[in-house]
Amino acid sequence: MPAETPALPFPGTGRVAVVTGASSGIGAATAARLAADGFDVVLAARRLDRLTELAERTGGRAVELDVTSDASVQALADSLERVDVLVNNAGGAFDAAPVAEADLSSWTRAFEVNVLGTVRVTKALLPALRASGAGDVVLMGSTAGLVSYEGGASYTAAKHGVHTLAETLRLELVAEPVRVVEIAPGMVKTDEFALNRTGDAAKAAKVYEGVREPLVAEDVADCVAWTVTRPHHVNIDLMVVRPRAQAAQHKVHREA
Ligand SMILES: NC(=O)c1ccc[n+]([C@@H]2O[C@H](COP(=O)([O-])OP(=O)(O)OC[C@H]3O[C@@H](n4cnc5c(N)ncnc54)[C@H](OP(=O)(O)O)[C@@H]3O)[C@@H](O)[C@H]2O)c1
Repeated sequence: MPAETPALPFPGTGRVAVVTGASSGIGAATAARLAADGFDVVLAARRLDRLTELAERTGGRAVELDVTSDASVQALADSLERVDVLVNNAGGAFDAAPVAEADLSSWTRAFEVNVLGTVRVTKALLPALRASGAGDVVLMGSTAGLVSYEGGASYTAAKHGVHTLAETLRLELVAEPVRVVEIAPGMVKTDEFALNRTGDAAKAAKVYEGVREPLVAEDVADCVAWTVTRPHHVNIDLMVVRPRAQAAQHKVHREA
């Protein structure tokens, strides 16, 4: 008797994937990748002009979204007939200050977008994800959600929040047809992340200085696409992904 054929990866075709923060970096690459894999992609972020241009180039539909606004998130939910995959990617770091010099408005911003934004969008789309019969919630965490580092607390605290949110959701949804996946990238060279954090192009460039091959947005998009195309009984709980040159948060190999 022939060996049993292994279950095929769960196909993208026909599934609707909503990607938040799709106007740049990891979100834009994820939207493009999922569209290429056959998903019907909804690209969501605040900068509609960029989303529209991306959607025209890679496929999908652009929707203006501010994850910090109840009304904006509700409008997104109301506009969707079906949701199979939600990629909670909108987020960022907005300072590199020690706690002793904390700017609380920067902390508020970090929690608003990374943590509360993820809760708000997930809560709004969960009924549709459940109704799909095979839903996926992906949370874009970070290695900053698993360890701490000096000068990073507004971001590490927020991403630790994302980490515990993923763990809690997975526990709460165990009896339901919804997977919860956390992706935790290390150093990813994107155009805006370090710039938003430092507010200065020269300082942003220093973050990646001498690192021969930091991750790029497409590497993380590849991870997202892989996790949501496994057979649906396979739940990738947490994927930590770093460039080879970064063995740990504080151990980055830099060439002279
Ligand atoms: N780059 C890294 O090294 C790295 C490492 C680990 C994890 N991450 C995480 O990966 C995610 C993407 O990072 P990235 O490097 O691609 O940075 P990025 O290019 O700055 O992307 C951030 C995205 O979030 C969107 N966004 C920000 N505030 C928003 C809001 N209120 N409502 C809706 N969308 C909002 C931005 O779009 P608009 O401004 O158009 O709204 C943008 O598309 C973030 O969650 C980040 O924390 C990044």
